[in-house]
Parts: sequence; C-alpha cells; structure tokens
Amino acid sequence: MRERRAMAESTIPTADELAAAGLGLGIDGAVARITLSRPHRRNAMTGRTWTTLARIGHTLPEGVRIVVVEGEGQTFSSGIDLAMFDPAGGVPGEDSLFARIAEDPEDTEGLDEGIAEYQEGFLWLRRPDIVSVAAVRGHAIGAGFQLALACDIRVLAEDARLCMKEPALGLVPDLTGTKPLVELVGLNRAVELCLTARTVGAAEARELRLAELVVAEPELDRAVDDLVAALLATPAAAARATKGLLMSARYNDLETQARAERAAQIARMADMARGR
Ligand code: ACO
Repeated sequence: MRERRAMAESTIPTADELAAAGLGLGIDGAVARITLSRPHRRNAMTGRTWTTLARIGHTLPEGVRIVVVEGEGQTFSSGIDLAMFDPAGGVPGEDSLFARIAEDPEDTEGLDEGIAEYQEGFLWLRRPDIVSVAAVRGHAIGAGFQLALACDIRVLAEDARLCMKEPALGLVPDLTGTKPLVELVGLNRAVELCLTARTVGAAEARELRLAELVVAEPELDRAVDDLVAALLATPAAAARATKGLLMSARYNDLETQARAERAAQIARMADMARGR
C-alpha cells in the first residue's frame, strides 16, 4: 500500500487527479502554469489541493525553470474550503484534520504530520532551481494569501485584495506564510495585518512590499508573460546559483556570505570554462 502510494506520488498527477484537487497544470518547455481551478467556490482549496501541489513540485520535469501560480476567473483564491472546518461534513472524499482532532484530541503527532504534508505544497515554490511567480487578481484570502506569499515574486492586478483571515477564524496561519510575511512587511505590520485580519488593496500591498509589480487588471497576463520572458533570458545555471546565494544572504553574516559568493562564483567560472 505504502509502495503504491510512493509510486503514485512519484508520477506527475493525471488530469483526473488534478481536477479532483481543484488544480490545472500546463507545462510548456521551461514554464509550468498551475491554475487554482474551482471558480464556483472562488478557487477555495482543500487538503488534496495542497498534497497535489506538493506532488507537482516533486515531479516537475527537470527543465522547468519558472512556475506561475494563478487563479481561474476573477479571484486568486478564497482560501481553505470552509467545508474543511466542518468535523461532521467536511469535503466529500477528503481527510479532514478537524474531524481527526474531534475524534482523537490526543493525536497531535498525526495532525503534525498532516499539516506538514500540506505545507509541502507551499515550501517547494522556494527551490533555487525555479522562480515562482504568483499572478493575483481579486481576492487572496487566508491560505490563498499564504500561497501567494510562498512564491518568489507577486504580480498583482489593481483589483487584488489580500487578507490573512485565519486569526479572525480562531486559527493561526500555518501554511508557511508567517515567515515571508514578517520578512516582507516587518514584525509590527505583520502583527497588525494578521490580528485585525483586514484586507490590503493592491496599492498598499505595493507600498508594503507584498507586490513586486501592480498592473491594471486586463494587463496582468501580459505583465506575467513579460516577466517570465525576462527571467528566462538569464542563463539557467547562473539564475539557480544566484537565487541560492540570495536566499542564504538572509541568514549569513557578511563574512560567511562573502565566502559563499566566492564559492558560487568559482563553481560558475569552472563550469563556464568547461563550456557549461
Ligand atoms: N470555501 C468554500 N466555498 C466558498 C469559499 C470558501 N473559502 N469562498 C467562497 N465560496 C463559495 C460561496 O459559498 C459561494 O457558493 P454558492 O454559489 O454555492 O453560494 C460561491 O463560492 C461564491 O461566493 P460569494 O461569496 O458569492 O462570491 P463573492 O465573489 O461575492 O465573494 C469572497 C468572494 C470574498 C472570496 C467570499 O466568498 C468570501 O469571503 N469567502 C470566504 C473566505 C474565507 O473566509 N476563507 C477562509 C480563510 S482562512 C484559511 O484559508 C485557512
């Protein structure tokens, strides 16, 4: 059983599996496009959405360099499917962590594992071999906001509206969003945004560094395409090594980072000398 699951998880999700997870996936050469695709629920997400996102990350073809995450229709995502909160009903065919804790409040290990599996769906978007871009039009609420935060770059339409709703619902943001939020806006502003659960419009998002780019709504797709083309114009190996360096810069002191720069440059120069 475990082997069968491991085998299934090592293959790219099928169209039926993607549809059941409320996702679309298109891969065209170096660019993968993931679409949150339950527009009748404003692209609400379920546990299966996140485990399938993780599987997409694990099985992404090697040549993929850019991952664009977008929503179908006029909303990026309304966050978790609110039916997931219902321990009695839940989402048909889905494991509900709320049902599990209602049944066995002592099973914290099982819940920890379950949430960690969901978080896998977000964490891979930071891998150094890819650049992830969130294209956000309309609402990005709760888990939807966290998914946008999981990406390296956020391009917002002018109608984008971001909201960290979890605390207002009695929960905490647990889908890897707290760290990038604090890094981007600072601790004080993050406290204010989360504990009021207020909605941030696109103009304020740009001011708070929650958006790298804000464009008129009809221009969003073209702006993302232009960004993707510009990112692809940089040689893949240099892009990967540079992203790795930029990521480590947040944790290293200056001397350690300078050493890391030297090592990365020497590796690049050696590869270039070998014609790679
Ligand atoms: N889960 C399940 N269904 C949803 C969700 C959701 N998160 N959001 C919207 N829907 C459904 C609605 O129930 C409605 O269904 P119906 O047509 O069967 O009545 C349909 O999607 C359309 O919703 P509307 O509210 O009519 O759409 P509108 O465009 O006016 O508003 C908005 C969109 C702002 C996203 C609103 O639906 C909303 O606030 N949704 C709830 C957001 C939320 O609290 N999410 C949880 C955050 S916490 C977390 O993610 C961990």
